[in-house]
Amino acid sequence: MNPLRIANRSEQNTLALARYPGAQPHWVADMSFATPEPILRAITERVKEGHFSYPKLAETVYQSIQHWCATRYDWVINREWIVIIPNTISGVRTGVKSVYKSGAIFTQQPNYHKLLDIGKSFDAGITTIDINTSHIPFSVHDLQSIALENPSAVVLCNPANPTGTVASRAQLESLAECIKGLRTVVISDEAHADIILGDQRHVPLGSVKGLENKSITVLSPSKTFNLAGVSVAYAVIPSKQIRKAFVSTLALHCSGINALGLVALEHAYVHCSAWLETLLQQLRYNQRYLHDRLLKTSLRYVPSGGTYLAWIDARAAGCDVFARLLDKGIAISDGADFGAPGWIRFNFAHPQSQMIHATDTILDLFGNTK
Ligand SMILES: Cc1ncc(COP(=O)(O)O)c(C=O)c1O
Repeated sequence: MNPLRIANRSEQNTLALARYPGAQPHWVADMSFATPEPILRAITERVKEGHFSYPKLAETVYQSIQHWCATRYDWVINREWIVIIPNTISGVRTGVKSVYKSGAIFTQQPNYHKLLDIGKSFDAGITTIDINTSHIPFSVHDLQSIALENPSAVVLCNPANPTGTVASRAQLESLAECIKGLRTVVISDEAHADIILGDQRHVPLGSVKGLENKSITVLSPSKTFNLAGVSVAYAVIPSKQIRKAFVSTLALHCSGINALGLVALEHAYVHCSAWLETLLQQLRYNQRYLHDRLLKTSLRYVPSGGTYLAWIDARAAGCDVFARLLDKGIAISDGADFGAPGWIRFNFAHPQSQMIHATDTILDLFGNTK
């Protein structure tokens, strides 16, 4: 059996399909591929217990996280550094809230809208780091601004949504060097950590020399294994002091962990490495295919090192690319949602048939021979 089965998603139960009824979903960051079988089987077994009482945070869950971090990211972490949280965004918000003192928060732009919005909850707002066209996570100039302003929090998205930029260890070390002696704590949203399409390896923030005790790294199996709906994530916080602040802030705002999420996480991390390799092969193929076809259009796309999201410069194609594609049954994301009007984001975590249909439609509308 092809391990990448296409999920039988319904409009009734799926945001990706419900928001734009009848349209092919290339917008929200989840995929058409079904969750791997070992996870589905484990969830089915758990459902058969016939109850959803408060779950136990079993040691095997922590062990599976330690195993995943060691094997995928070469990061050996202690059991007590791990805090299980309801989802990635609640982890990032909690992280910022627990370290924030005053002044602006630094974050990248364009960015996932929920990360841009985090600044709004604090009086001082955000200072943005422009990563749109550079494919670097931050520039020397940005580091100089951080050094000057000594912010209480820097929020990173790595790999970045929507640009797909993957930060290298050297780049993260330059950030570590920059905040040495500052009050700054860096909160890193690494929801897309496992979707690495280039030659690089993902470098978790907390594994970087000099950032161990100045970091909150938020990870999740959600994007990797199509698990957003069971909502589970974890923060890795080596510093005892930061962890303590994080845990007490978390307790103020959210309690409870999804019982099925825990089962999914453990089985994903123990049994689904090979499935992920197959997924990555398919995504690399799709990315190349998309790139080749877009070369024949007025849309500009430079493939990135990570995520299944293509960040596309549509400025030469006119102002209503989103609406024109939707009118033809292709739902993409408008770059304005991420702070970059004129750009679009296209999710390519879909089977070949959908990729062909979507790119045929794009060529019809924006092909160079038009
Ligand atoms: C960078 C990033 N962080 C967080 C999330 C949301 O993750 P969760 O559902 O675990 O909060 C997304 C979803 O698209 C994302 O792209």
